[in-house]
Amino acid sequence: MEKVLVTGGAGFIGSHIVDLLVESGCQVVVIDNLDPQVHGGGKTAPEYFNRKAEFIYGDVRDKKLVDSVMSRVDAVVHEAALVGVGQSMYQVDRYVLNNDGASAVLLQSVVEHRDRIRKLVTASSMSIYGEGRYLCPKCGPVAPKTRSEAQLNARRWEMECGNCGSVLNPAPTDEDKRTICESIYAITKKTTEELFLVVGAAYKIPTVAFRYFNVYGPRQALSNPYTGLLAITASRVLNQKPPIIFEDGKQTRDFVNVKDIARANLAALKWQGKDQLVLNVGSGRALSVLEVVNAVSRGLGGKEAPMITGNFRVGDIRHCYSDPRRAKEIIGFEAKIKFEEGLPEFLDWAKEEEGVLDLADKCLGELKSKGLVK
Ligand SMILES: NC(=O)c1ccc[n+]([C@@H]2O[C@H](COP(=O)([O-])OP(=O)(O)OC[C@H]3O[C@@H](n4cnc5c(N)ncnc54)[C@H](O)[C@@H]3O)[C@@H](O)[C@H]2O)c1
Ligand SMILES: [Zn+2]
Repeated sequence: MEKVLVTGGAGFIGSHIVDLLVESGCQVVVIDNLDPQVHGGGKTAPEYFNRKAEFIYGDVRDKKLVDSVMSRVDAVVHEAALVGVGQSMYQVDRYVLNNDGASAVLLQSVVEHRDRIRKLVTASSMSIYGEGRYLCPKCGPVAPKTRSEAQLNARRWEMECGNCGSVLNPAPTDEDKRTICESIYAITKKTTEELFLVVGAAYKIPTVAFRYFNVYGPRQALSNPYTGLLAITASRVLNQKPPIIFEDGKQTRDFVNVKDIARANLAALKWQGKDQLVLNVGSGRALSVLEVVNAVSRGLGGKEAPMITGNFRVGDIRHCYSDPRRAKEIIGFEAKIKFEEGLPEFLDWAKEEEGVLDLADKCLGELKSKGLVK
């Protein structure tokens, strides 16, 4: 039976990975420090945590602790990180020290236990792409930079070709697109990815870095105003407030169900290859923010129409959706759950959540006061 360390395994994505690994017969050990912003405080595993997995309350930057676990596992799945893109812009030290620090300590321990570790898997993010790929009607394929503040101030939301000025059409983003990190968070994900790939290559440990797109599903921290669109929207609606939409709501993202993410991780553990991979994990389909917000709001019985603010977040991208083919070709993974099929489970779960706080106004205020939302 395979023994796997899952860092951040009490979190949203990690806990689903834990469930699937346990179900597949793995012995799972989790290290998680239960970040209060995500878990609301306390030192015991959340209620949903799989009792067949071993839970260790602790920090991945605690080398002694990590060593004690590394000496009894065969594989590492690294999900632990602080995940607030906006927050990372004004908590630079906290994000870098936590996310890069956790990856560094973990990999130092891997190096010291390299004889027994046969697979490394880590969570990276689509946020490292910056803007996705586009097609210019006149110039063909392009991979543009993010929009200038002047363009955004003029409320010209769509991407424009740097050569001819035409409005660009979004195209699937593959792993070879140049990365353009637009937030401290993205930089930490890119660093983690590279640290894993370099250690994996140097010590001949097969390694997979997954660039998750926008993950949704039950157990998303609803009261954390820095998490994903579905969680933030749900917390607004459950507090009888209108959902907040930036720009005009026609920007698109690629939503992938958390159970598909778990399946991707299992596929990586089973993959027999020997190299180091970077793989997108997305649905391959672009959905507009407005249609997603409307679907969540309707599903939760929201009475207030979304507030389309016309504000924008500095560094925000317009469109990015995955080209999911490489993961299918190399590790045989393909996302299966369509958004329409996965949404009801998220909604049913959200309705049952008690005491969901809506901290969006506070969060927005903080970002505005720092000039990060305009
Ligand atoms: N949710 C998404 O849409 C998304 C998209 C792309 C990438 N990711 C990545 O997926 C991973 C999981 O994200 P999530 O959405 O489940 O977030 P989450 O906040 O629910 O889970 C992260 C977990 O890591 C723990 N943690 C953080 N720092 C730690 C440390 N130093 N030591 C021990 N535990 C620590 C937290 O307590 C939390 O339980 C992250 O690496 C994130 O960057 C998420
Ligand atoms: Zn052009």
